[in-house]
Amino acid sequence: MSIQPIKWEDGCLKLIDQTKLPSKLEIIECRDYHSVADAIKTMKVRGAPAIGASAAFGMAIGAGEIKAKDRQKWFEELEKIAETLKQTRPTAVNLFWAINRMMETARSHKNLTTEEIVEALKKEAEKIAKEDIESNLAIGRFGNALVPQKARILTHCNAGALATVGYGTALGVIRAAHEAGKDIEVFADETRPFLQGARLTAWELLQDNIPVTLITDNMAGYVMSKGMVDLVIVGADRIAANGDTANKIGTYTLAVLAKENNIPFYIAAPVSTIDMSITTGDEIPIEERAHDEVTHIRDTVIAPEGVRVFNPAFDVTPHNLITAIITDKGVVRKPYEQTLKNLV
Ligand code: MRU
Repeated sequence: MSIQPIKWEDGCLKLIDQTKLPSKLEIIECRDYHSVADAIKTMKVRGAPAIGASAAFGMAIGAGEIKAKDRQKWFEELEKIAETLKQTRPTAVNLFWAINRMMETARSHKNLTTEEIVEALKKEAEKIAKEDIESNLAIGRFGNALVPQKARILTHCNAGALATVGYGTALGVIRAAHEAGKDIEVFADETRPFLQGARLTAWELLQDNIPVTLITDNMAGYVMSKGMVDLVIVGADRIAANGDTANKIGTYTLAVLAKENNIPFYIAAPVSTIDMSITTGDEIPIEERAHDEVTHIRDTVIAPEGVRVFNPAFDVTPHNLITAIITDKGVVRKPYEQTLKNLV
């Protein structure tokens, strides 16, 4: 089994601090919901399924912290905790999906004691975490069928074990193909500005002895045009009902380049990433992050002081550029408004 960034032990959420990788493998311990919210906001834990599962544990921890004795007041406090966790990051729908599922669990147990509701919430969070690993294994199985015996695969950001509870989505497909004995080589985009590709994907693949070559983001077009890439697989933060997909900034550029070079472009994501409540990608909220992520690399300043900066963390790839979406329920192709509806 691959690395597991999220562990739940005796009511404590243990997370690999992903801001420290690859130089340090440090575990942080979250014993109150504020520290879970902070870990998500500051990207100590990141990746759509991982933040969903972490928020679920945050809900369970937070429920245990509520002092109110009055039932209605207790539920109001729980709603506030849900709201705090929802405010951490706006784009990945898995966060809202997991928190809403936890709220529904609490409501469906409303006639029990609050201690019993807290227990039910802990169990539900554990279930979400367990299901995520199972989903990723299923994505791996379905996706492996699309990977040739010898394949050079380009990926962006980190949609790996580190972005999930384990195994990964895009890297889950790569892992499954590697485990099946296929001759797999990966190009990992460094993924400016947060460097998830360089720091996390490269590290994670090296841990599992999967051959990986690191490139900077602006080299992707060159390697594709030179016939060095057979397919592109990336993850997703939110998929609209028509198949438009939000993923890490730079993904759209890759999809355009893949089309230009006749290379299949795949999205790998669990069905919990599909948001049927929105019709197109235009409705997906795009997170904008701090400017120093662009003006600095780690602690080193790389831009003149006072320069204007724009730092959107995600972009939307239009559905027509996506060859197929690999989910835990199977692989779907165009027309996505129909095939996605049949899936969820
Ligand atoms: O900002 P991040 O690191 O949370 O963004 C992560 C991504 O864009 C991933 O590709 C996506 O969440 C899928 S993770 C399986």
